[in-house]
Amino acid sequence: MIRSVVRGVGHYLPERVVPNAWFTSFLDTSDEWIVSRSGIERRHFAAEGQTTSDLAIRAATAALTDAGLQADDIDAIIVATSTPDLTFPATATIVQAGLGMTRGFAFDVQAVCAGFIYGLANADALIVSGQARRVLVIGAETFSRIMNWEDRGTCVLFGDGAGALILERDEGTGTAADRGILATELQSDGRHREILQVSGGVSSSGTTGHLMMAGKEVFRHAVEKLAQATVDVMAKAGVTTDQIDRVVPHQANIRIITRTAQKLGVPMDRVVVTVADHGNTSAASIPLAMSVAHQRGELAPGDLVVTEAIGGGLAWGAVVLRW
Ligand code: UT7
Repeated sequence: MIRSVVRGVGHYLPERVVPNAWFTSFLDTSDEWIVSRSGIERRHFAAEGQTTSDLAIRAATAALTDAGLQADDIDAIIVATSTPDLTFPATATIVQAGLGMTRGFAFDVQAVCAGFIYGLANADALIVSGQARRVLVIGAETFSRIMNWEDRGTCVLFGDGAGALILERDEGTGTAADRGILATELQSDGRHREILQVSGGVSSSGTTGHLMMAGKEVFRHAVEKLAQATVDVMAKAGVTTDQIDRVVPHQANIRIITRTAQKLGVPMDRVVVTVADHGNTSAASIPLAMSVAHQRGELAPGDLVVTEAIGGGLAWGAVVLRW
């Protein structure tokens, strides 16, 4: 049975670190509120002129180095982003050229904070169907560009960054003992699109727009849908909660992460948490967390990992993989 196995991982965070205190100079907010409601202590913001593809190229280069591969060893690039450099072409093609890759194909996926989960599922499908042997999946965002700096309920929550994972075709036995992606679960429900959206776009306002969120409602959907998607994907993979070595959740809010873990019965010492340092980096949050966990020694070959995310759409999903 064909499996998509993790061959390399990497990330990049822009140099500028913005602590919670920065917001208190122009907003009625406090470090105490931000930490207690979200768990966020700081986030990184891209420099002026630094684009999503710049961050993605740095993360991809780190993943290629980790894998011991060259750009032309890759067959396909998928970039998950809601903050592309341009309306078109796909940011993935800008990354392709930036890496010096002269073959293969590249495209973007747009599923907001669930983008990396959608990217992984698409990459797995390309590998299993024989269309690609190695796929570079990147989550990259510059959410600082779509903040409404007058909305204290949202602008304190998001950050910029990029993470990348290289998946490679391998032969497995077809059991849960295999390395690689064991199961994927994708869901969306467009009836809830208005609780988390951007106020502009190409064919509506002709502007980029700003992020708007009904935080409490998103929170409620998040815990319930993430827990359910995780239960469903574990059933598909034929594994149980007690077998899971690591959960790598979307890093939106520490309260969502802990409540979802409680609902699943997973102790927090098995959950990767980076939200304090990165804030919510949307599609970049999971590969960033995976790369940081890999560096910290929290992810080792053979570990059974479940990863899950939810965001605008609403779109959500989960993946079980053996690292
Ligand atoms: O990644 C995509 C998915 N997104 C998410 O998962 C985010 C989900 N939602 C959340 O994480 C939380 O709902 C928030 C962190 C956004 C907000 O936490 P909350 O506990 O739901 O607070 P709230 O929105 O109910 O606001 C409570 C109070 C309000 O004041 P009143 O009406 O009680 O007087 C807000 O106006 O906190 C106020 N508030 C703030 N106060 C200080 C909102 N933002 C701030 C702020 N500083 N930055």
